[in-house]
Amino acid sequence: MSFFVPFALERFFAKHEFSAKYLLCSSDCESLPVRELLAMDEGSIDRLLDLRLGYTETRGAPSLRAAIADHYAGLAPDSVFVHSGAEEAILNLYLATLKAGDRVVVNYPCYQSLAEIPRSLGCEVVPWELRETVDGAGRARWFLDPDELPRLCGDGARMIVLNAPHNPTGALPTRREFDAIVAYARKTGALLLVDEVYRRIERDQATRLPSVCEVYENGVALDVLSKHSGLAGLRIGWLASRRADVLDAVAVVKDYNSICSSAPSEALAEIAVKNLEAIAERNRAIVAGNLTLLDGFFERRSAFARWTPPLAGSIAFPRLTDGSDAEALADRLVAESGVLLLPGAYYDYDRSYFRIGFGRANMPEALRRLEDWLDDAGR
Ligand SMILES: Cc1ncc(COP(=O)(O)O)c(C=O)c1O
Repeated sequence: MSFFVPFALERFFAKHEFSAKYLLCSSDCESLPVRELLAMDEGSIDRLLDLRLGYTETRGAPSLRAAIADHYAGLAPDSVFVHSGAEEAILNLYLATLKAGDRVVVNYPCYQSLAEIPRSLGCEVVPWELRETVDGAGRARWFLDPDELPRLCGDGARMIVLNAPHNPTGALPTRREFDAIVAYARKTGALLLVDEVYRRIERDQATRLPSVCEVYENGVALDVLSKHSGLAGLRIGWLASRRADVLDAVAVVKDYNSICSSAPSEALAEIAVKNLEAIAERNRAIVAGNLTLLDGFFERRSAFARWTPPLAGSIAFPRLTDGSDAEALADRLVAESGVLLLPGAYYDYDRSYFRIGFGRANMPEALRRLEDWLDDAGR
C-alpha cells in the first residue's frame, strides 16, 4: 500500500504525452533548445564545459539564488531555496510544515499534489471552491471568494494554499481580492502558500500580482522554470519566503530527498533566470496569438464547448455544452485524430469540463485538427 494515491493527471500524461501527436492540453509554454539558452550569455559554453559535476549546495548555488532573489522586491538570496522542480518543493514544504490533524484550506479544483499530500499526511483538507461568475462589468471569470476564508478556516488553519494564476481555470484574483486573502492570513497567522508557477503570463500585464513573499511575512511563494519559461526539463524550481525557520525545516527534509539539485541544470537555470523577462515575453506573445485563435474557436463552436476565458497562464477549463462526459470525448479524439485534451475528471471535477493548453507554438495546428475532427463528426 503506497503512502500516496496515484497522481491521476501525471498517469494520464504518462500514457499519452509521448505518443499523442497534438498536445492540446499541455500546461507549459514553448521550450527552448540548450543552444538558444547558451546564446543568451556570452562565455556560458566554456563555463558549462568546465563545470565540475559534484554535489551542489542543498539550497541551490549562491549565484542562482542571488539571480532569483533579484526578481523579488526586497528579498535576500537567503530567502530563496532551490528545488528539483516545483513538485519537489511542494512535497518538501508540506513535509516540513504540516502534521496530522492540521487544517489546510486549498483552492479547488487544483493541481493534485497541492491537496493530496496534506491529505496523505492526515491533515484536514478543506476545499475552497472557484466558481464561474459574471462581475459587475458583465465580464465572465472564475472567482475565488476571499470572504469564504473565515468559514473555511474555522478556528484556525495552519496553511492556506492558493494557486494564482490558477491551474486549470486561468483564474487570477484582482489585487483587491489578493490583498484580502493576505489580510485574512495575516490576521490569523496562517502560512500562505501561493503557487505562482503561471505568474508572468497574465493576459494584461497590469494585472500581475505581487509575489506573496514580497507582501506577507508568513507567505511562501512557489515558482519554477517549467511553465512561463518552458524549461521543464531543467527541473529547477524554488521556494521564496522570509520565514527563515520554514526554509530551515525544508532543508531537513531535502536531506532525505534529492539532497541538492543537478549542477548542469542549475548552471542553465541561472542563464534563464537572468533572462526571465525576455523568455517570458516570447511565451506571452505565443500565448496571446493562441488566445486570439481560441476566442474565435469558442465563438464559432459554442454548440460544442463554452469557456470562461482565462485571465492568465497557459491553460483554461472549458465545458462541453451538452454536459456530456469529456473523458469519452477525449478518448475518441486522441484515437481518431491524435489531439489530446485533458478531461476534468482528472481534477476530480465535473466530468463535462476539460483542460485546454495554449502555451505551445504548434497550438494553431492542434486546434485546426480538432476543428477538422469536429467537422467530420458533424458537431
Ligand atoms: C500549479 C502547478 N504547480 C506545480 C506544478 C509542478 O511543476 P513541475 O512539474 O515543474 O515540478 C505544476 C505542473 O503542472 C502546476 O501546474
